[in-house]
Amino acid sequence: MRKNIVAGNWKMNKTLQEGVALATELKSIVKNPNCDVIVGTPFIHLATVAELLKGSPIAVAAENCADHASGAYTGEVSAAMVKSTGASYVIIGHSERRAYYGETYAILKEKVQLALANGLRPIFCVGEVKEEREAGRQNEVVKAQLEGSLFGLTAEEFAKVVIAYEPVWAIGTGLTATPEQAQEMHSHIRGLVAAKYGREIADGCSILYGGSCNAKNAASLFANPDIDGGLIGGASLKAEDFKAIIDAF
Ligand code: 13P
Repeated sequence: MRKNIVAGNWKMNKTLQEGVALATELKSIVKNPNCDVIVGTPFIHLATVAELLKGSPIAVAAENCADHASGAYTGEVSAAMVKSTGASYVIIGHSERRAYYGETYAILKEKVQLALANGLRPIFCVGEVKEEREAGRQNEVVKAQLEGSLFGLTAEEFAKVVIAYEPVWAIGTGLTATPEQAQEMHSHIRGLVAAKYGREIADGCSILYGGSCNAKNAASLFANPDIDGGLIGGASLKAEDFKAIIDAF
């Protein structure tokens, strides 16, 4: 069956020294988690944090990777480079990347393919903005995001993808989706995956919730049948807060 996962996304926070301090603290307090644990760090932290967390139950993710394999793309970091740091996951399609850096379905499709080709597991983010939810369009928006970037994958490739449902109106706002809203969307996503890849792959797919998930609301979210964990922003920046979310499993 699918794995439960709690993943942190540090976003553009923490100097290298602060990141090392956080990872060191996490390593000392996260010993026998009841779920998989991942920390997503800025590129420059990856190699150091991956080395530091070796032998611990905590895996490392990049927050992005390039949509080209290599070459003259100044400032970009390829999936192969991410893999060479010891990271095993990469967050792709975060709403902040879509909104602020113009990442289209086609660009994200390239990134997913390069990640997989380089042995990284994508944590692929989907989610609607406030206006789309108010118009009742959330299901079709998320469907288009999945179809636009993921559903060209083979079943074997897709089986390596983790999905994160992050309603944009809930990110960093303190406005968490209710467990009912989240469960409804997760069930919708699993249904779409089942229709495309079959029941077995859909049942094996971990679907995480993200958006103001914290120690207080994590347990009620994770208690739902289709919510397999969380992608955590703000509350992943303090070891104790992040640990409390892990302990919700
Ligand atoms: P917050 O937990 O800060 O709302 O961020 C969620 C998120 O965007 C994780 O990727």
